Amino acid sequence: MRAFTGISELLTMAGQEASPEERLGLVRDAAVVVEHGRVRWSGARAACPLPLGEIETIDLGQRVVLPGLVDCHTHLVFAGDRAADFEARCRGESYQAIAQRGGGIATTVASTRQASREALTALARPRLVALLGAGVTTVEIKSGYGLSLESELAQLEVAATLAREGPQAIVPTLLLHIVPPEYRERRDDWVRLVVERLIPEVAARKLASAVDVYCDVGAFSADESARILAAGRAHGLALKAHVEQLSATGFAVRAAELGARSLEHLEHADAAAVAAMARAGTVAVLLPTASLFLGDARRPPVAALREAGVAMAVATDLNPGSSPTFDPWLAATLACTWYGLTPAEALLGMTAVAARALDLGDGRGTLAPGAPADLAVARVPTWQALLYGLGHRPIAETWIAGLRVAA
Ligand code: NIG
Ligand code: FE
Repeated sequence: MRAFTGISELLTMAGQEASPEERLGLVRDAAVVVEHGRVRWSGARAACPLPLGEIETIDLGQRVVLPGLVDCHTHLVFAGDRAADFEARCRGESYQAIAQRGGGIATTVASTRQASREALTALARPRLVALLGAGVTTVEIKSGYGLSLESELAQLEVAATLAREGPQAIVPTLLLHIVPPEYRERRDDWVRLVVERLIPEVAARKLASAVDVYCDVGAFSADESARILAAGRAHGLALKAHVEQLSATGFAVRAAELGARSLEHLEHADAAAVAAMARAGTVAVLLPTASLFLGDARRPPVAALREAGVAMAVATDLNPGSSPTFDPWLAATLACTWYGLTPAEALLGMTAVAARALDLGDGRGTLAPGAPADLAVARVPTWQALLYGLGHRPIAETWIAGLRVAA
């Protein structure tokens, strides 16, 4: 057993009250007691029922402490870069136009297919290290740059290798991103392959816990997306979708009705989408660095989502095309200044709500008793200062299962 003290402000993210500010569970002059890698007790130091004087104590030096962040939407395993796409976009070509002439996601698919598993693993490691330094202790990783049976499985196997290596917890998701170029004239064959072979194999080998589909112009149609999610559901996978990102497809309603755990992006989501998500208990995953990097002025309907009681998570969308960033704090700050979340909502969105978007029922994203002892230790004077910066680095130390993994 060991105890952490010197915590000027603790955010447990486990407050039971109604408002986001109360749900932060703010405690001043706090202590966290850890046993076997999990939180045994957290709260005000003076109220600790355990004999703090007799336990090994780590004084964090008057810092703000919150649960390790959960980045619930990344495309972290890929090869190559998209600097040429970026340059073309800055000259005025749109993301969709670049995709139509064979650039965009297809560029990353070409380089990812050529890379060995070892090369993909080696490329992914420093990305995880960068997230770790920012306090991210749980990372969702989507496939989607393989686009063949073999190559999608390889991407998920790389995620499994990264999970074994640690220290972060990895949550793999099978993403059906676009129709592979070689199937352009026979899309249905690709969807059939996905439904009849890829999804069953991924589920049987437990290579992913969820299936995600990108429904948009230039990606999958609403009908194709529905077939893919239905197959995922039939094989026991949780459902997610990239929806209403660059155009309004209306698929968010169908995805929610199919039981989607989370729907992501949502810049074009309408009232019907919000209502369907509220009915289904679907989490909205907001990705402001992606819309900002694409220069897209549209914003998701945050006020309506809040009003309807839809939980909102915030993630980096780390990927080489629309969001080449390793900075969850930038994403959270933009979620406030650009999308209209409060800092309390954004902080919950990167912790407890993000864990919900991933169906993690082990207390992750909180510091309640029983949760993994994953801590992000911040060098800021108050919790409000966590998001008060653009590209600042608030995290001084990251701890996983009670051990320091980055400083
Ligand atoms: O989340 N919209 C689709 N997928 C990614 C972009 C991936 C890419 O451009 O490589 C996204 O923004
Ligand atoms: Fe994405």
